[in-house]
Amino acid sequence: MALAVAALVCAWGAAMAQDYPVKPINIIVPAAAGGPTDTLTRVLASAMGEALKQQMIIENVGGAGGTIGINRAAKARADGYTLLLYHIGMATSPALYRKLPYDTLNDFDYVGQVADVPMMLIAKKATPSANFAEFLAYAKANKDKLTYANAGLGSASYLCGVLFMSAVDANFTMVPYKGTGPAMNDLVGGQVDFMCDQTTNTVSQIKSGNVKAYGVTTSARLSSMPDMPTLDEQGLKGFDLVVWNGVFAPKGVPKPALEKLVAALQSAVQSSAFRARLADLGAEPVPLAKATPGSLGALLKAEVDKWTPIIRKTGVYAD
Ligand code: MLT
Repeated sequence: MALAVAALVCAWGAAMAQDYPVKPINIIVPAAAGGPTDTLTRVLASAMGEALKQQMIIENVGGAGGTIGINRAAKARADGYTLLLYHIGMATSPALYRKLPYDTLNDFDYVGQVADVPMMLIAKKATPSANFAEFLAYAKANKDKLTYANAGLGSASYLCGVLFMSAVDANFTMVPYKGTGPAMNDLVGGQVDFMCDQTTNTVSQIKSGNVKAYGVTTSARLSSMPDMPTLDEQGLKGFDLVVWNGVFAPKGVPKPALEKLVAALQSAVQSSAFRARLADLGAEPVPLAKATPGSLGALLKAEVDKWTPIIRKTGVYAD
């Protein structure tokens, strides 16, 4: 009898997955609305939604470097109707949070990578520095006064801040937000002094002159901003940080549903509209081979292994 019931449930599950998706899909963004991850997710949601012929709804769950939203996704039903889009922050939080309420490497199914997003060092408009060298001198002379905005321990902006401070051997007051969307509002308003943030959130502010920019965090200049020098070429030798982004789901999504999600992601990263929009935002869509579960799983493992010793060396813990 039990076997018959189990077989029935499996058959029903498979039938349901065949018709997947029959209702809107929720994508959790573990950061505030209006920020870089939210912007990327909105561009992806419209492309994937088109491929799946279904609406994709974004739920912003910011705070604690993204771990609140990540946990919400880890605990969600594994039916293909709740996804998570997040980034390098997935790999840094295991080292920073001793009591994470989820298992980063075992609680998720992987859909695939989405895009690599460079970061930029920016400061409020009133900053009295015309270039990076002047900014560095100014920052070091005022290190007890200057504030560095970020999206909390474990976020990409936090990680960039830690790497920048260790590279220039100066510490600044960290001001955490639920995301760099609200942090950018305060930077433009002059309430905080500087930040390192993803191009998906900085390019428009720089182009409209709302903030000053002093360098790109990648080892090579951006094709979208060829005149903007890298931090590496301006003296921070070896400074190389790019924010990878991936789509995750709670572990246990029925295979047919997961396969449809992977196919939709692959159609999105190849779509000219998606690629053109990301180019405007200074971001790089991944090649098809990276828009796969295997590629994202391998990247996450490698990144956890890479960042854990670096972060542990700082001796900073979030809890
Ligand atoms: C955001 O969308 O706010 C960012 O991804 C936050 C960060 O990690 O810096």
